[in-house]
Amino acid sequence: MATLRLGVLGSGAGSNMQSIVDAIEAGTLDAEIKLVLADFPDAKILERAAKHSIRAEYLDCAPFRTKLEGAAEDRCIEMLKSAGVDTVVLAGFMRIVKPKLLASFPNRVINIHPALLPAFPGVHGWTQTLDYGCKVAGVTVHFVDAGTDTGPIIVQKAVPVMEDDTPESLHARIQVQEHIAYPEALRIVASGNYSIEGRRVRIGK
Ligand code: GRF
Repeated sequence: MATLRLGVLGSGAGSNMQSIVDAIEAGTLDAEIKLVLADFPDAKILERAAKHSIRAEYLDCAPFRTKLEGAAEDRCIEMLKSAGVDTVVLAGFMRIVKPKLLASFPNRVINIHPALLPAFPGVHGWTQTLDYGCKVAGVTVHFVDAGTDTGPIIVQKAVPVMEDDTPESLHARIQVQEHIAYPEALRIVASGNYSIEGRRVRIGK
């Protein structure tokens, strides 16, 4: 059991980061957010972090649009390391992270995905869930590996699909569960009381 030293990467609203901040401030998650980085200078996640006096900075990821690689990846790793980060949390970060970052934080990069993996990886998982006609949607928190949304699963929550759901209404219902699932998954990681056996995260081992 050790206090997690988190680095958060995001692109947008930052409601998941907020749920982590709230859990820390409520004393239900043994963690500290050392640094928040966003790939858009006006991302709301930066504003939210600043409100809680968390160091928050823009990370220019050019020339790439959908991945974190090259000079930006090097800068990101360097900033996370020098801030003392031991666990990287992807919270709505709309880029693929590459092996160099993963190797810098082995089994310590975590992502949240708005669908029940392995169904509907990639972007807009909730829209794909709805369009497919699924009756159950959900959220997955998982360790990140070299694939896209393929790493070992830490926590999943199911969310019912309603007859009159739109992508927006379904996503809103999924987000309620995301804000429970992310702190829950990080509590497991903070406890150290788990092992990764193949694809399985075995809690209490
Ligand atoms: C969430 O739905 C998350 O699952 C997905 O991107 C969204 C981010 O939301 N990866 P927020 O920025 O945390 O509010």
